[in-house]
Amino acid sequence: MIDINEIGATAFVIASIRALEPEKPQPLFNDPYAPWFSNDRARTAARQLEAVFPPSTTMVRFRTRYFNRFVERGIEDGARQVVLLGGGFDMRAHHYRDADAAFFEVDQKAVLEFKRQVLEGGGVEQPPSLFANYLEADVPGGLAELGFDPSAPTLIVWEGNTMYLPPESIMPFLNRLASAMSSLRIAFDYFSVDLQSRDFDTDEDRKRLEGVERAMNASFPTGFPDLTVFEREAPFAVTESGSFAELAEEYGLGEMVAEYPEDWRETLKLYRYCVLQRRASAETPSR
Ligand SMILES: C[S@@+](CC[C@H](N)C(=O)[O-])C[C@H]1O[C@@H](n2cnc3c(N)ncnc32)[C@H](O)[C@@H]1O
Repeated sequence: MIDINEIGATAFVIASIRALEPEKPQPLFNDPYAPWFSNDRARTAARQLEAVFPPSTTMVRFRTRYFNRFVERGIEDGARQVVLLGGGFDMRAHHYRDADAAFFEVDQKAVLEFKRQVLEGGGVEQPPSLFANYLEADVPGGLAELGFDPSAPTLIVWEGNTMYLPPESIMPFLNRLASAMSSLRIAFDYFSVDLQSRDFDTDEDRKRLEGVERAMNASFPTGFPDLTVFEREAPFAVTESGSFAELAEEYGLGEMVAEYPEDWRETLKLYRYCVLQRRASAETPSR
């Protein structure tokens, strides 16, 4: 029996939300593998998420679409490698298997062992994968042993991860990646709240985020109220950022989000995406 910890278990919840996409009036993506990673417990958690804050599962749909586009645009722009960092049951390596880019996955051993078993059962091959706690492992070195080229243009998809990590681990980790990978773009989702000190603007925001934590059965110790930290404390430039809810119009769901109560729309401003690009070593921070 594979023992998957609480953070690993969150991957099943996200897969369960993605598994429902074909039933939506306006599907935003196609992930036929998602049901392979869904189970009763995770479906219950997904329903709890909707109960505590109804737009939360819609934001997971938006984020899936957003990171798909990040990969598609990045490959069009010349990236030749994609790393799914804390990738869980992300199946982009298979969705984009015909694209001109090599995919790699990094996640905890138990999660990736489970994934490999399920994929084997379905006759699908697991891409080159680093089974590790990425905060502790030598990620660039471990990937290089799997055929990764640290000097080639690389995209990292870091989806559904930052909020679960110890705050003090983030900058050292990003600096380690940046020092080994010279041409790197990394996209992630985050909460724009100082979660370290639980500094919420309103009680409603606090209750909603804490409700989401309970439904996910995991806590969110880390948020980023100010993205310039990545420019000051690591060699990155912020090239893109915004709230997922703002993408509603582009995704054909503008009316639905516009009809949300005002206070829901306020809380949604806290859930955002960001893209960091590694600066060339000679460049100095822009701000
Ligand atoms: C919420 S899931 C998201 C999975 C996937 N990226 C997605 O959006 O569907 C978080 C994933 O990150 C992985 N993860 C979190 N911290 C990690 C760490 N330090 N090392 C390896 N994997 C980690 C967990 O095991 C889990 O699979």
